[in-house]
Amino acid sequence: MTRSFVLTNHKGGVGKSTSATNIALGMVRMLRSVNAINTRVLLIDTDSQGHATLVTTGRSDFGADNSLYGVLMAERKEAARVMVDTIVRSHWDDDLHVLPASPMLEAAERELTGVAGAPYRLAEPLKRIANNYAAVVIDTRPSFSLMTEMGLLAATDAIVPVEPRYLETVGLLSVIGKINDIRDGWRHPSLHVSGILVTKMDARIKGHKQLLDDLKAHSLLNQLLCGVIPANEAVSYSHHSHLSIFEYDPKAPATKAYAKVVAGLLRQILTKTEA
Ligand SMILES: Nc1ncnc2c1ncn2[C@@H]1O[C@H](COP(=O)(O)OP(=O)(O)OP(=O)(O)O)[C@@H](O)[C@H]1O
Ligand SMILES: [Mg+2]
Repeated sequence: MTRSFVLTNHKGGVGKSTSATNIALGMVRMLRSVNAINTRVLLIDTDSQGHATLVTTGRSDFGADNSLYGVLMAERKEAARVMVDTIVRSHWDDDLHVLPASPMLEAAERELTGVAGAPYRLAEPLKRIANNYAAVVIDTRPSFSLMTEMGLLAATDAIVPVEPRYLETVGLLSVIGKINDIRDGWRHPSLHVSGILVTKMDARIKGHKQLLDDLKAHSLLNQLLCGVIPANEAVSYSHHSHLSIFEYDPKAPATKAYAKVVAGLLRQILTKTEA
């Protein structure tokens, strides 16, 4: 089964899109470097803001017919075909494919709320095409809305990016609780929280160090910690030029940190596949 990683946190601006896009590309590059047979990764953008779509495709003009919206609105038996037709190649790498978002996803939230089976409208077609990919990465909006629920139900692994701020440990436990509620409420046992990713870490700030120490001292959260990304201005510059951090500055501290996260995730994928 292809592993599908959803980046989620109801808090805004914590690095979900930065992480989703760079982890997805990092996976393509690392799979290629180990001569994997399949090096294709699919990035799904479920956020109507479309930031992940913009940086990876250079486009913000996707609409009803050529974005995830069209997949969600398609007849059930047509949805997988529509999904394949909607996926585009990123401008970062031919093997990084993107299912683009559009502002229409706002309307989808309203139109699909209360419709039977709506939360599975991403998971069902994805299940049918996921085998084409070595991995799937899903970016979500900053809320536990219907779109985010769809992202979670299409995933096997949830990664929670978090900024090292005061009281974040408490917030994290509530995010994990919410993800577990969705897994249990919708009977989706293959979904589990597989990582906490600390982002924008500035070791010079006392509070940041304290948060990381608190996380490491926590029996559950410590086991989930899957990486620490330093605060690094190369990240914002890379966004402005629509480049990945790997392309923008291969030597930047954030680039090295993302490469380490990707290596850890791929190790899990490759070990599970071999097992
Ligand atoms: N490691 C980092 N160092 C410095 N700036 C960062 C880092 N990671 C992300 N940023 C900046 O933080 C801002 C928010 O990042 P991003 O868009 O990835 O967050 P998000 O969680 O997807 O936001 P939203 O909730 O709005 O979808 C961006 O301006 C980005 O450039
Ligand atoms: Mg985002």
